[in-house]
Amino acid sequence: MPDPVNFAVIGCGSMARGSHIPNLAQSNKARLHTCVDVNQSVLTELQGKYHDIRTTRDYRVAVADPNVQAICLATTEQLRLPVIEAVAKAAKPIYVEKPLARSLAEVYEIQRVVRQAGIPFCVGHNRRCSPAMVEAQRIFRQHMEHPAPCRWRFDRNPQERPRLPDDGVAGMSVRINDDWYSWKQWVFDKEQAPHGPMLFEMTHFTDVCNWFLAAEPEEVIALSHEPFNHGVVIRYADGQLATISMSANGTFAYPKELYECFGNGGAVIIDCMLEVRTAGIADAPARKTYAMIHDRHPQIGTEGGVSGWLSKKRAACAEAAAAGDTSLVLAANPDKGHAAILDQFVDEIQGRGPVVCGVDEAVRATRVAFAAIKSTQEKRAVRLEEV
Ligand SMILES: NC(=O)c1ccc[n+]([C@@H]2O[C@H](COP(=O)([O-])OP(=O)(O)OC[C@H]3O[C@@H](n4cnc5c(N)ncnc54)[C@H](O)[C@@H]3O)[C@@H](O)[C@H]2O)c1
Repeated sequence: MPDPVNFAVIGCGSMARGSHIPNLAQSNKARLHTCVDVNQSVLTELQGKYHDIRTTRDYRVAVADPNVQAICLATTEQLRLPVIEAVAKAAKPIYVEKPLARSLAEVYEIQRVVRQAGIPFCVGHNRRCSPAMVEAQRIFRQHMEHPAPCRWRFDRNPQERPRLPDDGVAGMSVRINDDWYSWKQWVFDKEQAPHGPMLFEMTHFTDVCNWFLAAEPEEVIALSHEPFNHGVVIRYADGQLATISMSANGTFAYPKELYECFGNGGAVIIDCMLEVRTAGIADAPARKTYAMIHDRHPQIGTEGGVSGWLSKKRAACAEAAAAGDTSLVLAANPDKGHAAILDQFVDEIQGRGPVVCGVDEAVRATRVAFAAIKSTQEKRAVRLEEV
């Protein structure tokens, strides 16, 4: 495989135009070679911006092109299996946006096709490549596997303390604040997104829980008041629990994601990929902040982290209100790993790096989301082997 790797992007909508296309164009590991979309006006706009790309409205043309070495599939989940089958037949690597598919039957068929073809395959659970998440996961796993409790840990009665099998077992919570006024029309189309955010958002978070807790998810119980409020609890084979709370009647003026992981007398907190805080873990940094993307206000909130972000966001919201342009609130984004996941997938393709989020990990995260959906429908706990 030559270096850099030539990519064709299939589906050049807002996700691709906002992230994958500029990220591929700027990468020194990958090259933006072809853009595919059924909408000619999108292709014309892209030709005006990226002069040396090829364009086509037929994904089969791009897949068959010998100069296209890898595919980035960023259509909505209405189009997955036919493209993956064509790419598998051409024996090319493929990155696929989340969710992997709209139904469990299609999920399992994709898994079969990918395993049989043996192609490098990556699903866009990009938080696995966010700098803050990567560092937090490493600290948490290290502490879970080689506990480093602090000598000051309050211990009321060491001699009398009962010896309990769950001593140290981790629990984690994920809190999502979203504003549904920002959602696209297709989200409400049952043909395109039959399970709404319980699938297309949830797989990000079930994947993070699986990754941080590093155990087999066994049982899920969920309550949902469609389409905006969802509560999901996942029990893992070793007794760990993860709780995911998603609210879509929230606000863009407050950070979207909070992850709190506790185990072995320690805590690792990831506040919206802007800062990581730890406590009770000897030698772990107490607080670390991470760079933001598209920061229009570098002179405001210079301390960074959550407090810096809140100051920048207040400035962006004031500008949006004054200009009557609500898109101006989109500034100072946390680095969710969108650029890094493509670069790391290239490393995987080239044999230089590990599997980033392969088909089996993606299927695991998607099955947990489907178990949660079944649980809300049937109002009972659902075991993973049921889905
Ligand atoms: N990983 C993330 O953080 C993240 C964020 C947002 C969206 N997404 C995912 O990305 C995917 C795309 O979302 P979006 O918001 O960009 O949707 P979108 O509707 O803006 O874009 C989809 C594009 O696909 C094109 N398309 C449809 N059928 C096609 C075909 N047969 N061949 C070629 N192009 C075709 C459409 O014309 C459109 O331009 C979704 O699955 C969504 O869940 C992921």
